[in-house]
Amino acid sequence: MTIKYETIDVLEMTPKCGGFIEGVDLSQDISNQQFKEIYNAVVDRVVVIFRGQKLTPKQHISFSKKFGKTQASAVSGFEKNTDYPEIDNLAYDADNPPHVTRDLWHTDFAGREKPTWGTLLYAREIPPEGGDTIWVNNVAAYEALSDRMKQHIDGLTAYHDSYRPYGETIRPEMWEDGGESLGRLKTERSIYRPALHPVVRTHPDSGKKGLFVNESMTTKIKELDFRESDYLLRFLFDHLRTPEFQYRHKWEADDLAIWDNRTSLHYALFDYDQYRLMHRIVIEGDVPYQ
Ligand code: OGA
Ligand code: MN
Repeated sequence: MTIKYETIDVLEMTPKCGGFIEGVDLSQDISNQQFKEIYNAVVDRVVVIFRGQKLTPKQHISFSKKFGKTQASAVSGFEKNTDYPEIDNLAYDADNPPHVTRDLWHTDFAGREKPTWGTLLYAREIPPEGGDTIWVNNVAAYEALSDRMKQHIDGLTAYHDSYRPYGETIRPEMWEDGGESLGRLKTERSIYRPALHPVVRTHPDSGKKGLFVNESMTTKIKELDFRESDYLLRFLFDHLRTPEFQYRHKWEADDLAIWDNRTSLHYALFDYDQYRLMHRIVIEGDVPYQ
């Protein structure tokens, strides 16, 4: 279905997640009304995609900054773009696999006090096969829970550890091969403290509730005994994989995706051999609340 705003049309990709926005050239100035509608579409659809955008890094940065402050990656295995510190280079192939985005559902920087609200990922080079990304709508996942389960998780809080996906036993290859990003991780780790966030997060704009846990970083529910916590988290992680809440995107070069990390998880498939280069900018969010 197509949702008609005043200045943009949003083509829904699945009933619960994803939208294509057409007819906008992001290399040009956009009006305040267009910006507002794009923002609302991100909140509503969780992730939106613009195809065929020809953006220089500067244009990518200036468009991203309309959404807020770019967020310094306190904990990240990504390489920084040497010319543009706001941009992370996600540059991978079969010989240089991604350390952290692959095979773990996550939301960006959940382990910080103020997790990322939005990510603007721009596809520069896409392999001929593979490398899709999947998003899941956490509001849809929350709303599909039974009333009894909603009562059970109401008011719970959970710890999010940004280092978990980089752990020595989870990504041993990263620790074995050493390198620049490992040195940075070790330094940052010594001053880092995990963040505590509500399990049910209210979206500040829509007022809707969504699940705010992810298998990559969420380690324990504070109010529960370890085994209770483990059991409940495993159920929630599993529930968050339900295909009906998802959209899976097949990238083309020059696609720009914007997603709302407050109400979604994503998963980057590592099923490609050839080079894939994405430019990523993350925007700082607010302190989550239920
Ligand atoms: C990210 C991320 C997904 C991808 O940019 O935060 O997880 O498909 N990337 O590269
Ligand atoms: Mn991510």
